[in-house]
Amino acid sequence: MGVTVRVPAKVNVQLAVGPARPDGFHDLANVFLAVGLYDEVTAAPAPALALSCTGPGSELVPLDETNLAARAALALAARYGRRADVRLHIAKDIPVAGGMAGGSADAAGALLACDRLWGTGASQAELLDICAELGSDVPFALVGGAALGTGRGEKLEPLDVGGGFHWVFAAAEGGLSTPAVYREFDRLAEGRRVPAPAADEQLLAALRTGDPHALAARLANDLQPAALSLFPALRDTLATGSAAGALAALVSGSGPTTAFLAADESAAERIAAALTASGHCRTARTATSPAPGATVV
Ligand code: C5P
Repeated sequence: MGVTVRVPAKVNVQLAVGPARPDGFHDLANVFLAVGLYDEVTAAPAPALALSCTGPGSELVPLDETNLAARAALALAARYGRRADVRLHIAKDIPVAGGMAGGSADAAGALLACDRLWGTGASQAELLDICAELGSDVPFALVGGAALGTGRGEKLEPLDVGGGFHWVFAAAEGGLSTPAVYREFDRLAEGRRVPAPAADEQLLAALRTGDPHALAARLANDLQPAALSLFPALRDTLATGSAAGALAALVSGSGPTTAFLAADESAAERIAAALTASGHCRTARTATSPAPGATVV
């Protein structure tokens, strides 16, 4: 009697970060690409809100009302004046606290699953509105594909992608806290003028043509120096993937997952094998992009 929603991870192919705003957030030019690593969220009727989670890293996922998936159910219930009488189960495959927006994906998945279970009939615009209240990366998890996020990342403009890209994602031993990485970004920026963030037109053109070599030349993450400062061992992981033939290597979002763009599927498999053998990561997985957003299965 449940509704299951499959929801993708993301990689930021450009993450341009502006100065800290008065509200503590940072204005971004955030080029999101959904990748084919998925969590599944199932919503089923229950006497009261309950949450469970299985899969790699699930012991790190809070099961109380601080969990973004639980908050999504509560926000939808509040908007429609009903009780959040639902059991949510999260089957995790996206690295936990990895910079691939797994928690945001679970929130978008829970929101869509509850919406369908309860028959609220909310419009996509209403769902996106709730997503934006829940977190900066949640709206993108709902829509998937590729998009430019501005503001704190929640204002989305869909982007055209001309072909499939092959990636390898190396999950690190341990996680990084997103607020801590932004604080480190601010610390490293002290005494320096941080320019307003802007989307890179050449990168958007590379996405449109689907050319991995052109995209590799433009990949950029302004949070990378902060993530490397807090997690210096990631340098070894990046070097390992580059030596194995990655067209480009970067930290995914706030990290500590590292992302490697490959020329094709066989190159991705070779890079993943080299990363796995190196001991410089917990796991290395191949995935393609773009991937669809939250989808009822
Ligand atoms: O929006 P979300 O809850 O995902 O953000 C987590 C944290 O990341 C924020 O509390 C803030 O410290 C930081 N952040 C930021 N600027 C953004 C997005 C997130 O400073 N645009």
